[in-house]
Amino acid sequence: MRTEALEAIATRRSIRSFQDKPVSRQLLRLILEAARQAPSAGNCQARDIIVVQNAELRRQLSSAALGQEFIEEAPLVLVVCANPERSGRRYGERGRQLYCILDAAATVENILLAANALDLGACWVGAFRDELVRHILKLPKHLRPIAIIPVGHPAESAEPISRMPLEEFVHIDFYGSRYQGEAP
Ligand SMILES: Cc1cc2nc3c(=O)[nH]c(=O)nc-3n(C[C@H](O)[C@H](O)[C@H](O)COP(=O)(O)O)c2cc1C
Repeated sequence: MRTEALEAIATRRSIRSFQDKPVSRQLLRLILEAARQAPSAGNCQARDIIVVQNAELRRQLSSAALGQEFIEEAPLVLVVCANPERSGRRYGERGRQLYCILDAAATVENILLAANALDLGACWVGAFRDELVRHILKLPKHLRPIAIIPVGHPAESAEPISRMPLEEFVHIDFYGSRYQGEAP
């Protein structure tokens, strides 16, 4: 049993305040390796990642994300994009419409968990204007930005946000037959 993985999941929080301190190349590499290991439909790996460290680009991304200023404050911003061509080649419409989004989402989660495991803070930002992000990062037409992820050394320790009890969203055999498991 590898409880470190469960600990990284359980202790991850969205961090929206960062120290004025760069993320080292070594830490960036570890995060990108974790991103690379994410599962993907048919192993098509239908996502691309843009690494943004340039201050002016970070400012523009903040603005594209409806003024969420903590994006600009982070020394490192990763933008994860779905690549429909890559999964569409193998899976046609389902690949273009669905699998590439899921591949990108799995990549985002790996990035968030790796950042937490490395004592960095990060946040999944999904509220932004696609066209602006496309323009700022010179994305080819077919790429769809899925998440902007500011990453940095945390300047806050965010409190856990509540979650629904398992009984509210886990169903046994059929929808509506509630799970009532024992707590571990
Ligand atoms: C698809 C998606 C979009 C999100 N967009 C934003 C966002 O635009 N801005 C933000 O501050 N947080 C955003 N979040 C983070 C959520 O607010 C956060 O994960 C949730 O409140 C639970 O808190 P926790 O991550 O600390 O557990 C987003 C999360 C997801 C999964």
